[in-house]
Amino acid sequence: MNDEEIVKFFEKEEVLLSPDAVELLKEKSDESLLKKILEKRGEEVFISREFIEQLIEEEKKIPLPVVEVKRASDFKPISKEYSPELKFLKEYDVSGKCNCGGSVDDFVNLFRDRLKKTRKMLEMRVGATGITDIGATGGFTKGREVRIVGMVNNKMITKNGHVMVELESEEGVAKVLALKSNREPERSCFEKANTLLLDEVVAIDGRVSDPFIIASDVIWPDLPIRTQKVIDRDLCIAFMSDLHVGSRNFMQEQFQKMLGWLNGEMGDENGKELVGRIKYIIIAGDLVDGIGVYPEQEKELVIKDIYEQYELFLKFVSSIPDYIEVIIAPGNHDAVRRAEPQPEITKDLLKAGNGRMHVVGNPSLVDIEGFRTLVYHGTSLDSIIAGIRGMSYQYPEKPMVELLKRRNLSPIYGENPVVPESKDYMLIEEVPDIVHMGHVHKNGYDNYKGTVIVNSGTWQSQTDFQVRQGHTPSPCILPVLDLRSGRMNVINFMKREVA
Ligand SMILES: [Fe+2]
Repeated sequence: MNDEEIVKFFEKEEVLLSPDAVELLKEKSDESLLKKILEKRGEEVFISREFIEQLIEEEKKIPLPVVEVKRASDFKPISKEYSPELKFLKEYDVSGKCNCGGSVDDFVNLFRDRLKKTRKMLEMRVGATGITDIGATGGFTKGREVRIVGMVNNKMITKNGHVMVELESEEGVAKVLALKSNREPERSCFEKANTLLLDEVVAIDGRVSDPFIIASDVIWPDLPIRTQKVIDRDLCIAFMSDLHVGSRNFMQEQFQKMLGWLNGEMGDENGKELVGRIKYIIIAGDLVDGIGVYPEQEKELVIKDIYEQYELFLKFVSSIPDYIEVIIAPGNHDAVRRAEPQPEITKDLLKAGNGRMHVVGNPSLVDIEGFRTLVYHGTSLDSIIAGIRGMSYQYPEKPMVELLKRRNLSPIYGENPVVPESKDYMLIEEVPDIVHMGHVHKNGYDNYKGTVIVNSGTWQSQTDFQVRQGHTPSPCILPVLDLRSGRMNVINFMKREVA
């Protein structure tokens, strides 16, 4: 960079430099140093040469941790013989630029899109005929049976303990009562109504009893029942999330042990047969701990520079054998916009190395060997766990099932920020074969109607925040799905065992 470019770079931020500071920066010719100065300057608007020299000295004192990954020379993985079968289904890709102004109209359009598409999914399940317009139910005689579809815009418990919801569509609003009862079928209808979430779209069966509709059933769009997909190719997918590189709680030793294992460095025979068949690794967000994600995060960080956090992350990724395709999505700790859908992490942070590293948005739909794989960090799991009785952080597969039932990755508006793109990217329009999430730092697995559910836990030990919340994470457990047998294998790098 020449003098003029350096001065311009800082002028944009309304920062001035002394002439000898410009001279020094020209000498160093290091673009990351310029960014570092802006980060570290605090309120300072005038930067001297001394300030920069001091910063350079400070940086020298904290070298990035050394990455040490062992590699076995006699390792002959079978997956090396296979070429990857990988397609990125563009539908979930987001540009990073919101195509809207964030106006009320944009949100109205987003909800219209959600209503229209979820109604279609419901029609696929229960049939298009027999659904009554919400607006028409007012004129119906008492006792008439109806099926209505709408978005839950209010939910309350009446003083008699019944669940009352307002169901809204473009034609009007219906007040629905699910009566509290110990008798079937009312009891199960009441239980279902009790789990309704704000802003989700459902069908409700009931009978007219002006001004209410007395519910007899609640129907979600849900997934069709299929048999779990398997293939003939002898390959596996490994799942990771929530590494939190840069945090003092990132478990580097165990992570390196796992990377060594991927390189055939067994130590013992555990998982040897499995590791050579891994062809794909998906990392579902929170690659790094980030900066300023929560108050006083500084105290928890050993790397306080976001570029360095990603630099270290990339060092680890480059230790993954080069015949393995690595798919990387962001999470709420990563350096992209917080609101979902999140765009992919930009190239200046994740320099794609050798072409086998694939950076995608959150959420993303990826076709791996014919398995439609839905990758979502899982930020909305917090609101599902808080919003439905019986959910807990100990069993993340349960709220994941609830999201699949609703065919929506983020049903409750406002609980986690959503950008009003022209369509609802959080809808699960395609039936996935695999759903991979993280975020809650607890491993969980299930098979829901033929869809493999995996929560890949974390590589971060229990944080102070989690201690206060009473949440016990399950760090360093790597789930590996065998695509041929359909079996989920779980390798514990705290203990190094195959379960
Ligand atoms: Fe997260």
